[in-house]
Amino acid sequence: MKILVIYYSRSGKTKKVAETISDILKCDKEEIFDTKNRKGIPGFLSAGADANLRRLTAIKEIKKNPSSYDLIIIGTPIWSSNISTPIRTYISLNKDYFNKVAFFCTHLGSDTKQLFANMGNLCQKTPLSLLELTSKEVARDQYMQKVKEFIKNLKEEIIK
Ligand SMILES: Cc1cc2nc3c(=O)[nH]c(=O)nc-3n(C[C@H](O)[C@H](O)[C@H](O)COP(=O)(O)O)c2cc1C
Repeated sequence: MKILVIYYSRSGKTKKVAETISDILKCDKEEIFDTKNRKGIPGFLSAGADANLRRLTAIKEIKKNPSSYDLIIIGTPIWSSNISTPIRTYISLNKDYFNKVAFFCTHLGSDTKQLFANMGNLCQKTPLSLLELTSKEVARDQYMQKVKEFIKNLKEEIIK
């Protein structure tokens, strides 16, 4: 099975999880880059506003063709209780090329149920597996157990 991990990360947490997942699965990964500057306080404020209003942005050109993968694992930080704008944009542009999907997110404590429901609606797919991690768990390297459970669920769903 060909698997691709897609992620956006403003401050490294989601990236760390994405790299762990792709290392364990020995699969491809691709980071999504926003052309809009999200650094510093102005970047934080624009990120919060754009996510809240469910706006799209211009992302840099992607290198990997999603249609050539059986499964896309999509990771996003939570912004304003929402999907981050670069990942919303990636999904909006590419959802017609997805086969199976799974999702993960990092956050400071928001409820993740609605976030994952929104991601599923945007992709028009039911995810095979879900993983949520707090920034604290990621920073303290206390996330391997949840990652392993996520991958175990994924494998069980794939062989169903
Ligand atoms: C603009 C902005 C809005 C955020 N809004 C939320 C939020 O509503 N709920 C939450 O739990 N965390 C929120 N966070 C925190 C991030 O989701 C969290 O720090 C995440 O782990 C960052 O991932 P990253 O390092 O990959 O960018 C927000 C962060 C940013 C930058």
